[in-house]
Amino acid sequence: MADHEAERPPLALKASLTSGSDTWHSTGAPGLVRPFLLADGPHGVRRQGEGGDALGIGTSVPATCFPPAVALGSTWDTALVRRVGAALGREAAALEVDVILGPGMNIKRSPLGGRNFEYLSEDPHLTGRLAAAYVEGVQSSGVGACVKHFAVNNQETDRMRVSAEVDQRALREVYLRPFEHVVRTARPAMVMSAYNSVNGVAASENPWLLTRVLREEWGFDGVVVSDWGAVNDRVAALRAGLDLEMPPTGTDAEVVAAVERGELDESVLDAVIDRLRRLAERVGAARTRAPEEELAVIRRDNAELAREAAARAAVLLTNDGVLPLDPSSDAVAVIGELARTPRFQGGGSSRIVPTGLSSALDALTRRLGAVRFAPGYAVDGVADEALVLEAVEAARDARVAVVFLGLPEHAESEGFDRTTIDLPADQVDLLERVAAVAPRVVVVLSNGGVVSVAGWQHHANAILEGWLLGQGGAEATADLLLGDRAPSGRLAETIPLRLSDHPSYLTFPGGDGVSVYGESTFVGYRHFDTLGRPVAFPFGHGLTYTRFEYADLRVTEAGEDGWEVTFSVANTGDRDGLEVAQLYAGLVEEHPTRPRSELRGFAKVELRPGETTTVTLPLPAADLRTWDVRGQRWALAAGDYAIRVGASSQDVRLEATVHSDGDRVLTPLTAQSTIAEWRADPAGREVLAALLGRTALGAAQSTVAPELVRMFLSIPLDKLRSFGLGVTAETVAGLVAQARAGQERLLATGAYRRP
Ligand code: BGC
Repeated sequence: MADHEAERPPLALKASLTSGSDTWHSTGAPGLVRPFLLADGPHGVRRQGEGGDALGIGTSVPATCFPPAVALGSTWDTALVRRVGAALGREAAALEVDVILGPGMNIKRSPLGGRNFEYLSEDPHLTGRLAAAYVEGVQSSGVGACVKHFAVNNQETDRMRVSAEVDQRALREVYLRPFEHVVRTARPAMVMSAYNSVNGVAASENPWLLTRVLREEWGFDGVVVSDWGAVNDRVAALRAGLDLEMPPTGTDAEVVAAVERGELDESVLDAVIDRLRRLAERVGAARTRAPEEELAVIRRDNAELAREAAARAAVLLTNDGVLPLDPSSDAVAVIGELARTPRFQGGGSSRIVPTGLSSALDALTRRLGAVRFAPGYAVDGVADEALVLEAVEAARDARVAVVFLGLPEHAESEGFDRTTIDLPADQVDLLERVAAVAPRVVVVLSNGGVVSVAGWQHHANAILEGWLLGQGGAEATADLLLGDRAPSGRLAETIPLRLSDHPSYLTFPGGDGVSVYGESTFVGYRHFDTLGRPVAFPFGHGLTYTRFEYADLRVTEAGEDGWEVTFSVANTGDRDGLEVAQLYAGLVEEHPTRPRSELRGFAKVELRPGETTTVTLPLPAADLRTWDVRGQRWALAAGDYAIRVGASSQDVRLEATVHSDGDRVLTPLTAQSTIAEWRADPAGREVLAALLGRTALGAAQSTVAPELVRMFLSIPLDKLRSFGLGVTAETVAGLVAQARAGQERLLATGAYRRP
């Protein structure tokens, strides 16, 4: 045996490194690679003791419970999310954690998604920007982030087996786009492959997803870890590009045997080990646990930030002026069990043991002195007339009834989807009866997935959608109700009037092992706004205690790369406030396969009364591209694009139009290209014109009915041979050769590009 071979680690050792050593550790080998401690995520550090579970059943070390993703998504605040990420990273490092299993960044395809509380938005741009900020933040603390679940994991029903059947455009433009943005711009240390299949191939064993797209196209250089238990076939997973199976299934011998049989190249294992070693360099040396005093300081700082983040997340849906409450004159009754027993996070693997927690009832009592409280309902949903009567009495004596409503723990969790978006019936009944006697009513909601408001919103003078706000939620809610802070959250998902209005309604969650994404790219507001269908509250909506005016829209060209969109926002009210200015764009010409307008930029600005600021948002031409399925590439269509700036997807304040010549890409013309495609191509157009000039077809052209001309446009050139027009195989071959030569001449001028 040669010396260098003697030093090579044995095959069995290499195989063992591609799987964990227990639920949360990767396997280490002295001198080769150290083990890593991985921990959930995403909204707190879920550090478990030895033998911990992956389902959120067992307990974990207390940690700051930041607002879950549903709330962070509603902040529309990349700077804040970056700070939250950095704070999470700092706490993780102090708890010896190497990689946080977050952010969760799947698209909220349906309001019923059981894990929607763990995801950021229905929109890929917003999701991508916020997730990148989270990753940058975490990794700035020297801890790795792991984006999940890659990919198309948009439902919990049958999540471990279902195949998400999604067309290539929706896949690229909606479901992969946020991951692409994060991988390209924030370099996450890890990507977690999903449980489900994508178009028939398990995500964890999918070479197209894990290697072609993730590594080769996007340049991902980190480690791919499986979701916990997502691997069905170790060898297939390794071959596809998965590095680390978690937790271990005791199947290392299968890997060894596959190498020995020549079915798996040993270099695949070497590549995994290389990537694990690079990860070790990125996330620093093995950690030691911080002393308690240091942890206490981190936890104190982080609790403060958790409260600030919560205050920036809640969305004020309506307000007739009742808010902010005036403590000097508003005798307040606090109604609803959720005021006393808060819901602040969702169930499953992301469950955190908070370092502190108060209830809204406590927080309001501290500020207002004794308030009258009545629970009104039991969170288990069993109607109780005595509780209602007590609440009605409390409301009758008050000037304002603040009614806390929402979803009970058992209504939503990882592991199953909801079947309704209604609030529990006993809560709606309570609200009606309280509203009948209370002079004014404020509703505060706690829910991870969207709830419908249409049936009861007329009973409320104001609605504050509090989502699940983490451990600082109660104090933050009191801050907002009393006007110590201005509400500034905006909806990261549409609130439909009815569940059945939603584009996913007929196909979610599918059945028989498949979930067909029939709405394609028309997810969320892309559907409602394109078709002009009414909603309860549109994507991007949210009020505050002041007013903003938009003016002076200018769109300037920024070279080849796109445009710069500049406008001013002024606070014209009399209180401090934060506005989220939003930029949407879309082709002016209506197009049956394209959403009318899509979010392409946003900025959260803070303004004092009377203050004006100038907002400049880049609009890269690349962001206007759509996926060209035939060419398997991003393509920019030539045309006029509407640029819309405003306060929600439907509240457009300023509008302009820009023209794009498109990406001037010449796709090689073939015999299979249609007449329309030939006519759209500058070289093809010329060749066709010459043909028409010298054949009977040309002479007949002027007498041909227009509908016949249109019919012709969809015919592939080669098919003309079948229609008795004297077109032969030689004619077609000649035309293709001429067109190709013409395309080459145009490419040589530099005015056009190859695909
Ligand atoms: C979840 C992941 C989580 C993992 C480890 C899985 O069930 O889907 O999001 O990170 O468990 O707890």
